[in-house]
Amino acid sequence: MDIVFQDGAMETWTADVLITFLSDGCDIVPANGLLDNLCPWLPIAPALRDVRTKKNALHMVHGHPDGRIKRVLFVGLGKKEDISLPAIAEGLAQAIRSCRSLALRTILIPIELFDTLPFGRTRLIEECVVAAECAAYDSGLYKKEPGEIKPESLTFAAAHNDDFSKDTLHAAGKRGQVSAKAALLARTLANTPANFLSPTLFAERAVAHAKKLGLSVTVLDEDEIKREGMHALLAVGKGSTNPPRLIVLEHAGPGDPIVLIGKGICFDSGGISLKPAAKMHEMKSDMSGAAAVLACMEAVAEEKLPLHVIGILACAENMPDGGAVKPGDVVYALNGDSVEIVNTDAEGRLVLCDAISYAKKHGSPRAIVDIATLTGACAVALGSEIAGLFTNSESLATALLSAGETCGEHLWRMPLWPGYRKQLKSEIADICHTGPRLGGAINAALFLEHFAGETPFAHIDMAGVDWAEKSSGLCPKGAKGFGARVLLEFLRGGAVWRSI
Ligand code: BES
Ligand code: MN
Ligand code: ZN
Repeated sequence: MDIVFQDGAMETWTADVLITFLSDGCDIVPANGLLDNLCPWLPIAPALRDVRTKKNALHMVHGHPDGRIKRVLFVGLGKKEDISLPAIAEGLAQAIRSCRSLALRTILIPIELFDTLPFGRTRLIEECVVAAECAAYDSGLYKKEPGEIKPESLTFAAAHNDDFSKDTLHAAGKRGQVSAKAALLARTLANTPANFLSPTLFAERAVAHAKKLGLSVTVLDEDEIKREGMHALLAVGKGSTNPPRLIVLEHAGPGDPIVLIGKGICFDSGGISLKPAAKMHEMKSDMSGAAAVLACMEAVAEEKLPLHVIGILACAENMPDGGAVKPGDVVYALNGDSVEIVNTDAEGRLVLCDAISYAKKHGSPRAIVDIATLTGACAVALGSEIAGLFTNSESLATALLSAGETCGEHLWRMPLWPGYRKQLKSEIADICHTGPRLGGAINAALFLEHFAGETPFAHIDMAGVDWAEKSSGLCPKGAKGFGARVLLEFLRGGAVWRSI
């Protein structure tokens, strides 16, 4: 979708549809009469209260037949005090999905309408671009019929020339496009069925993305993973005919790296500790952490962020064949610790612990941040809108929480409660990979922290967050592509983490 900025008199604006917003009381947001000249009956429509202002209510008004603006689409935002960037994004996304069903291709948003809201033009533009791109996403990846027409252009128009720098607006639009591309790459990968995305195929895709943008990339196959000593990762992949892969992407920059690690379980059947059949198909998206890391790395390269960033995707398929790891088995992780495996369905922490040790063995990371669909317990605790954040570093906590707030991928801090470390004691090995059911998300995080040691470390548990049970304007049922944006925003806000 082309993002266009236009200033000049309203009479010069052209579009299939102009989208604007209404809040309760039927006043245009803000009611500055900007649209009054567009067609004489426009200001009357809201006053007649034909137009509903309920959140996400849509109302189309046709323009004058000779006019250059063919239609105006009002989007309800509900109560004035509830107007927020995410609310505007979802309203716009629904509006754009309805434009798509009418095959409208050119969309215009008058940005001056937003000037009395406390968000600022650049943030609004960025979020509107993300929303528009997300509304153009279809999940029918394997359907013969293509989805509905996608918009060609989104124009931000201002009637009055002012001193607001065009470059700043363009940069905001570009940032929005990069953010959306990252989120949608993560979404597409997580929606891709496991038969189209084994660890090997994931590695091929990662290499293709990396090459396009000049990221360096290394893929370790199962022999190299074994030679390296990553027996926890190997153990998870043993029960599948599709062998594991460790994919390492690097964006060059000054100083020690920030390392991002993603859980890349291409399918999680539970292994010998087999999951129940209901909803098992959703476990094709158990690699969404790795997808988020790959998508973020691509964005980092595209924006040429002046940082040294390494992305590690720890990929394996958790399957229950005759060679599978068994409950009670003990394996030696890369750091030399023996690990007792009690429940083969707690596979995520096994691939992640070796990725953490790998990052520490091959460099001295300034910080390690992992992201994973790790525990049902975290989903029970926090639900589907916020992901759990566990960290041993106050500055990582600040930076990640604020990144989440900025982009709307919210994180909530959870405890790395030291008192529960004893729950990971094993009779037979140095450490047990699971603790009791109670506090399950914390136990998993404590297991990972053990391998991070003194390195500043953050763990994001997004189980339950990435899978949308219902369609919305921004996202059809299925994977959301959560995580890419919050990681990217964290890295963009370089000033914060430089203090780590
Ligand atoms: N991939 C699952 C966690 C998950 C659950 C993700 C629901 C998305 C939605 C993970 O590998 C898992 O199975 N965790 C177990 C751990 C337990 C055996 C200690 C769980 O949460 O039940
Ligand atoms: Mn599992
Ligand atoms: Zn899993």
